[in-house]
Amino acid sequence: SKPRILVARAIFPDIVDRLREHFDVEANPDDVIWTQQELAARLADKDGVLTTGSQRVDAALLAAAPRLKICANMAVGYNNFDVDAMTAAGVQGTNTPDVLTETTADFGFALLMATARRLTESEHFLRAGQWTKWSYDMFAGSDIHGSTLGIIGMGRIGQGIAKRGAHGFGMRVIYHNRSRLAPALEADCKATYVGKEELLRTADHVMLVVPYSAASHHTIGAAELALMKPTATLINIARGGIVDDAALAVALREQRIAAAGLDVFEGEPSVHPDLLTVPNVVLTPHIASATVPTRRAMANLAADNLIAFFDGRGPLTPVNQPVPGLRA
Ligand code: GLV
Ligand code: GLV
Repeated sequence: SKPRILVARAIFPDIVDRLREHFDVEANPDDVIWTQQELAARLADKDGVLTTGSQRVDAALLAAAPRLKICANMAVGYNNFDVDAMTAAGVQGTNTPDVLTETTADFGFALLMATARRLTESEHFLRAGQWTKWSYDMFAGSDIHGSTLGIIGMGRIGQGIAKRGAHGFGMRVIYHNRSRLAPALEADCKATYVGKEELLRTADHVMLVVPYSAASHHTIGAAELALMKPTATLINIARGGIVDDAALAVALREQRIAAAGLDVFEGEPSVHPDLLTVPNVVLTPHIASATVPTRRAMANLAADNLIAFFDGRGPLTPVNQPVPGLRA
């Protein structure tokens, strides 16, 4: 009989149909947000699951799902996985790298430009009927072209943003990362490696593209915000928790930095209430990879991981290497 798969959130219906050609599928077309207990109950008889960042896969869930062999995340980030627990339990994890790189880099740039040029703040002003006259300093922001872009996290997406900045906008690009890029990649991106403190002190725009982990928790807190220029902007397209949102709200209110652009939040979909009341922040609901072709590519890659795994070809984009055969 066919392996049993749970598709834990609603995805493109035709991609669920594609999965049905290979598997016995339980889907969630109404996109109900299940509790961990409801998710565990549905996984009790499943061999695989297609997850998104909103399902936590931890030891308790794995214990409740004795047949589960693979979790295919429809996201490049997989901090919703307890990878050590999955590996120990013999469960394969996969993610969706590469297919979203350029789309996400585009969005990082969109958010940077919207933030530096006060796009949403000025639109709210216009829609509210407050535009009665032009004035010399109305919504005067900061320049992108010719400025210094500081990128924290120089993976594929960070490199995509660096190239846009250096080649498209004549920006000076500096970056910080756990390890330096190979010289050829640095040259491609026209990016210079610097320490985190130097980056924060010198960048006009700070872009966060680092994966979330215990080590990257609150990469930007009150101390780091204090190092930034008062004219600087901060952009977070990485993950909630990379920034201390409460400390950021204080820095924005007190204009210790000029502005921020945030696509991800601690505790999302909740947003820190103080961020909702400060004017100098652009807020978007975790949509950096949200174009139709890219979301389709992500869903198809997650599906392809499930298909390849159960065909015995091995996962296409694994995030761990469990010992095979621990789970029958
Ligand atoms: C989205 O945040 C992703 O990790 O793909
Ligand atoms: C992270 O994996 C990235 O693609 O930047």
